[in-house]
Amino acid sequence: MDRIFQDKINDLKKQNLYRDQNVINERLSRQKELINFSSNDYLGLAECSISEILNINATDYSVNNLTELMQIPFGSSGSRLTTGTHLEHKELEDCISNWKACEDTIIFSSGYLANLGALSALIDKEDVIFIDELAHSCMWDALRINNARKYIFAHNDAQELRRLIQKYRNQYTNSFIITESIFSMDGDLAPLDDLKSIADEYSSFLYIDEAHSTGIYGATGAGLISEYKEKNPEQNFSNLIQMGTLSKAIGLEGGYISGSSSLIDFLRNKARTYVYSTASSPFLMKIAQHNIQKIIHENDLRQKLFSNIKYLDSLLSNLKTKNEIDIEHKFHWTNFGSPIFTIQFQEIDKCLTVSNKLLEKGFICTSIRPPTVKIARLRICVSSKHSHDQILSFYTALSIALAA
Ligand SMILES: Cc1ncc(COP(=O)(O)O)c(C=O)c1O
Repeated sequence: MDRIFQDKINDLKKQNLYRDQNVINERLSRQKELINFSSNDYLGLAECSISEILNINATDYSVNNLTELMQIPFGSSGSRLTTGTHLEHKELEDCISNWKACEDTIIFSSGYLANLGALSALIDKEDVIFIDELAHSCMWDALRINNARKYIFAHNDAQELRRLIQKYRNQYTNSFIITESIFSMDGDLAPLDDLKSIADEYSSFLYIDEAHSTGIYGATGAGLISEYKEKNPEQNFSNLIQMGTLSKAIGLEGGYISGSSSLIDFLRNKARTYVYSTASSPFLMKIAQHNIQKIIHENDLRQKLFSNIKYLDSLLSNLKTKNEIDIEHKFHWTNFGSPIFTIQFQEIDKCLTVSNKLLEKGFICTSIRPPTVKIARLRICVSSKHSHDQILSFYTALSIALAA
């Protein structure tokens, strides 16, 4: 019987699409010496330990002392609607609502479950969805559950969205435009101005996944939507639904949806991944509040991040292949001002080879392959914790590996 799976694995290997656990194990054994250039921990907060949290000037943030922290349970004991809700969940939901200037917030155990639960609950079969072709897998998985009619628009193509919505919107009850504000695998930005005005014009909800922009953009790091709201205070945002994670710049795990009180109240009743799953650890909820306060108050974390992004961009500019394919070596690189850079390869094995060479030199830089993306790439992420020296060494190793 087991042959079935071995054959499937062999097929993956033949296509260079096998994800090798041994490579991951090797990385684990060298963890201390490796420098990570593929992490979503853009502000270095995932590395924080309890002692670091307690060392910070006690009056600044929400964790005031060790005694307080030691009393918070690790486990929640049940789902949120039974026995799982603790004060820390409520505090974190309020903290995110204030940060994002929304009426209310609902927390899920992961970003994946937030998208899965929210989108499958919010959209009925009489409704219509307009979704960016590069939206994250968990949004597509949600759409498989709810069976609503969907139209896919080309990546960030507001004109195509307008054409589709103009043609089909009227045939359905409610309409949802779904996208990411910073795209996870490309690092580019959604055209929020255009999307918002199309959503307003065609009475549609605008559902935006802010996983990769939260912690980074806006005056207090609340994300690209918050930055957009700051610039357009006269607009009405009642059709906006924001999704976010605790797992990227906030450095932990968990996900949330923020929006109007009635939207969140509805999700508390109908989002199955909330109702039928054990609530997140109250302890993590406390640390998340702390990390958000740190993001709000320590503006220099974001300044350092953007200085590092500029520095790597300037180094990569020596390769002269930004958005243009190097004919000889068949790759090109991209960056759109966010912490996510890509080096895209026409051949998957070249991408794997460069990733392995970087690992030999002490850098984690993972290759992302189909089906996650159409074109194989190294997804390079800059963090505020990288020093310029580390970025320079990484660039040097990378340019040697690319030229080989
Ligand atoms: C855009 C986007 N949305 C949602 C998720 C899921 O978040 P989490 O890792 O917290 O489950 C991810 C993570 O990969 C993501 O990149």
